[in-house]
Amino acid sequence: MRIDHVAIAVNNLDDAVKEYQNVLGVKDVEFETVESEGVRVAILHLNNSRIELMEATKDASPIKKFLESRGEGLHHIALETESIDGEVDRMKNNGVRFLGEVRPGSRGTKITFIHPKSLHGVLTELCSHPKK
Ligand code: CO
Repeated sequence: MRIDHVAIAVNNLDDAVKEYQNVLGVKDVEFETVESEGVRVAILHLNNSRIELMEATKDASPIKKFLESRGEGLHHIALETESIDGEVDRMKNNGVRFLGEVRPGSRGTKITFIHPKSLHGVLTELCSHPKK
C-alpha cells in the first residue's frame, strides 16, 4: 500500500486552495465535483501524492455534517492498494468495519472507507486505480 492522498475538509474551497498554493508553493491544481458524495474537490499534486481540499456541495453532504460538528481539518487519509476487493475481504475476516461497499470513485477508481473506530480515530479510504 501507499498513501494516495490526504483529504482536508474546508468551508470555502476557493479561499483554501489559494492559501494552500501559497503556503506549499504548488501550482498544479485540478478541480472536480463528485456529486454522488456531495463534494467539490481541489486536488493539489505533490511529488508522489496529493492533498485534496473538499467542500460540501449540498446540505445532505457528509462533509457538511463533518464541518458542523468538528470544523475544518483532516477528514481522511487514502491508501492505495492493487486489489481492493481482496483487501476488503481480508480485513472483514479480521473484524474491520467499513462505511459502505466498494463503489466507483472519481476517474475509474474503486473506493471504500474503513470505519475510524477500526483505526484509532482515523477515517481511512481504500482505493484502487484502474489498471494501466
Ligand atoms: Co479521498
